[in-house]
This record gives sequence, C-alpha cells and structure tokens, in this order.
Amino acid sequence: MDVEEFRKRGKEMVDYVADYLENIRERRPFPTVTPGYLRELIPDSAPEDPESWDDIFADIERVIMPGVTHWDSPQFHSFFPTANSYPAIIADILSDGIGNIGFTWASSPACTELEVVVLDWLGKMLDLPPAFLFSSGGKGGGVIQGTASEATLVTLLSARTQFLHKHNKSGDGHHDDGAVMSKLVAYCSAQAHSSVERAGLIGAVTMKKLETDEKGALRGTTLQQAIEKDRAAGLIPFYLCATLGTTLSCAFDNVLECGPVCEKEGIWMHIDAAYAGSAFICPEFRPLLNGVKYAMSFNFNPHKWMKVNFDCSALWVQDSSLISDAFNVDPLYLKHENQGKMPDYRHWQIPLGRRFRSLKLWFVIRAYGLKGLQEYIRKDVQLAHDFEKLVVADDRFEIFGEVVMGLVCFRLKGPNDVNEKLLKAVNDDGRINIVPSSVKGTYFLRLAICGSKTNNNDINFAWKVISEVTSKLLQENACK
Ligand SMILES: Cc1ncc(COP(=O)(O)O)c(C=O)c1O
Repeated sequence: MDVEEFRKRGKEMVDYVADYLENIRERRPFPTVTPGYLRELIPDSAPEDPESWDDIFADIERVIMPGVTHWDSPQFHSFFPTANSYPAIIADILSDGIGNIGFTWASSPACTELEVVVLDWLGKMLDLPPAFLFSSGGKGGGVIQGTASEATLVTLLSARTQFLHKHNKSGDGHHDDGAVMSKLVAYCSAQAHSSVERAGLIGAVTMKKLETDEKGALRGTTLQQAIEKDRAAGLIPFYLCATLGTTLSCAFDNVLECGPVCEKEGIWMHIDAAYAGSAFICPEFRPLLNGVKYAMSFNFNPHKWMKVNFDCSALWVQDSSLISDAFNVDPLYLKHENQGKMPDYRHWQIPLGRRFRSLKLWFVIRAYGLKGLQEYIRKDVQLAHDFEKLVVADDRFEIFGEVVMGLVCFRLKGPNDVNEKLLKAVNDDGRINIVPSSVKGTYFLRLAICGSKTNNNDINFAWKVISEVTSKLLQENACK
C-alpha cells in the first residue's frame, strides 16, 4: 500500500467505523455464530500473492462482523462497559502512526512526559491525595497499565518483594525466600474480580477471600480477625486488594475501615476500582473513595467508563520506588544519560514495550472537559435508576443490592432456577444481551449501561423485552 492508497483507504475506514458506530442499533448485540465459524470463511493458509484491498475490505462484513459482539450497542448490557469515543479512536490512529515503544524516557520522551502530566491531571480530577501525584515532589505518581489485572499483579508482586526484603533484613542473614513466600497471605473480598485470585496464583502466594457484609462490603473487623488468625498460625499477611465497585454486584468494600487496619498491621492496601473509578470524577460519588489515603496503590480503568478506548488502566502509587525497585534489571542497551530525571516506565510494569496510550487520555480529557465527562457518567447512572424504577414497579421482580452506578442487579422473586431460565430466554430472544451473577447463593441478572449512546428509549426497550419474555416464560411454566 503506497501513501496515496493509504490516504484513500484510511478515509474509507474512518467512514466505515463512523457508520458502524452510528448504526450499531441495527445489529443484533450478540452474535449467533457457532465455534469454528470463521475457519470456514477464509483459506487454511496465508496467501502467496498480495490481495486487493477491495477484497480485504469486503471481508470485514463477510468474515468479521458476523462474529462480533457489539459492546457499544445500546442493547448490549452485559459485563461492564468498554469505553468508546471518536477522540480516543483518533488518538489511537496517531499512536499507531508514531509507533514508538516508550519503555524509557529516552526511547521517546513525549511518550513518558505526556503520561506523567496526564496522570497528574486525572489524579486531580479524582481528587486523589497529593502523595499519589508526581507534582507533589514526593515519590508518588501514576502509570498507564494495559488492564486492571496487570495493575493488581504489579502491585501484588511489588508488595511481595518488599516483604521478602523486610524479612531477609530482619532475619539472621540467612535468606530463604521460598520459606517466607510460603507464609505470605494476601486478602480480598469474596466478591473480588477473578483477576485478583489470579494475581495470587501468578505471584505464588495464598489469596484468601474474606466474607462480606449484607451490602457486599468487606469490613475492617473481618479483615482484622483474619489477620490475627493468620499471624497466630505463623503466616505473614502482606497485601489487601480492596474493591470499589465489584463485578458481581457493584458493591464497595469499606476502605475507611480496612485502610487503618492495613496501616496498623503494615499491609499494602491496593484499591481496584476498575469500573466505578470513573465516577469518582463527580463530587457526589467521590465520598466512595474516601480512605484512599491509606492505600499504597489505586487503580481504575478509563477504558471502561471514561470514553477512552481499551487499553488504558490508570494506576497510582504513593511510593513508586517500591514498584520500580521490585522489577529493576538494567542492561546497558536500555540505559540513557538522563536516567533518574523522569520515570522510566519499563520499571513500573511487566512488559518492556508500551504503546503511546496517554495520547487517548489526553485527547479525551481535552475534547470533553471534566464537565463533559461528569455529564456522561451522570447520564448512565440516571439511566440505571430509570431501569431500577421499571423493575420496582413490576411486582414479579425485586432489586438485588443497591443501584449506585450504571449497573442494576435484579431478579424474579422466587427460586434461582426461574431466573436462570429467564436469563436464557432473554438472550435467546436476542434483542438485548445480559449476563447473570450470584452472591451468597442468590442468582440474579445484571443490566449494565454499556453503549456510549444508550438513552432512555433503549432502557424502555430493554425493559419491554425482559417483561415480554418474562410473561411468556411464566405462562409456559404455569401450563406445565
Ligand atoms: C472490579 C474489576 N476488577 C478487575 C477487572 C478486570 O479488568 P481488566 O480487564 O482491565 O483486567 C474487572 C473487569 O470487569 C472488574 O470489574
């Protein structure tokens, strides 16, 4: 492809993406293909000769779209949202065009410098304590990770390294990392995301899931009791991953209670606010983040709910040396003469290479402004409350938990199996898509506001579908 064709085809693709996103309502949100569908549609081996762009382009609709789940569809209500916006897409085009790998400051100074400034902007938008910001002049600062899973893993491994050092120093000079590691214990709530359990597996430490209260929150006393029990058994508690906005039901751990426990016990508290974190840019939701001052690290995904397309997961730490020292290897070819003056982000993450992801955060924050982003969050929360009202007005249903953000958990009154049938019937119907969840043995359905253009008509439509499918299901059950 020469430059003239690139100009032409690039513009065509921008038009295709614009049409796709503007007309997404017309597509079934969840595909009907069966596993292996795509292999049937393309050859077994790569082409020997170049193919025409027309043929390649035509295959988007023929091969790809039939198997695409339309996450930005206003009829897609599963999981949590994945953000989508034009400024972020444009930024990704630029990032791909520049194509640098910003592992050190010297490998592309703008890549590091923009990330440093924009993460301070974002930290201020969230009203994070200054200790998390570069501009405070201390050891704190932010970094963009690919995902919240990576942020949890990086912080868990850093905490693990810190504890191994501490124990080796305080011991008799005999280093037995294996013996200490076998005693390390990390905690999370029973509602924590699977990536937290996984971080424990990868980090080769025990991850204990602690019970939550009736609102789904991990409480300080539960944590304190677990620590005391484990210490008495000769174990070494070292890390807590608290969640603000759990995937199962959007519950919030009590960070104001757990934080002081962690501080007293010398435990690294990490906060995973992957989804809900975006809402903390609104003053009315910010109190949910109170207690963040006790956290060593805090993470949320602008790529979920803040209009920045995947991947962009923002992580802040109060003491970046605990992360950068934990993963520091220093080959000659990566050294540069300005080392130490700005972060070399390769030390803050697991991979070496990194994309120019701060561009999309920068474009989005500037294109919408804080006010525009706050408006967007508030719109989604309002839509969730609108849906909640529809559920509450129907005697057959009940709300599970509390609607705080853009997620509504609800169920048909009665046993789990009717709800399992309802979920299947709604998704088989195909007009909308939702996923189930279960907390302490109660099965329920989750409706998340996902599409960036979801409006009140879409919410009424979702309820109409659920209501119709329910009536049919209950009628069929009654006839049996
Ligand atoms: C609370 C929470 N933590 C972590 C994750 C994982 O996010 P990621 O895909 O960025 O690793 C999710 C995903 O939905 C989540 O809801």
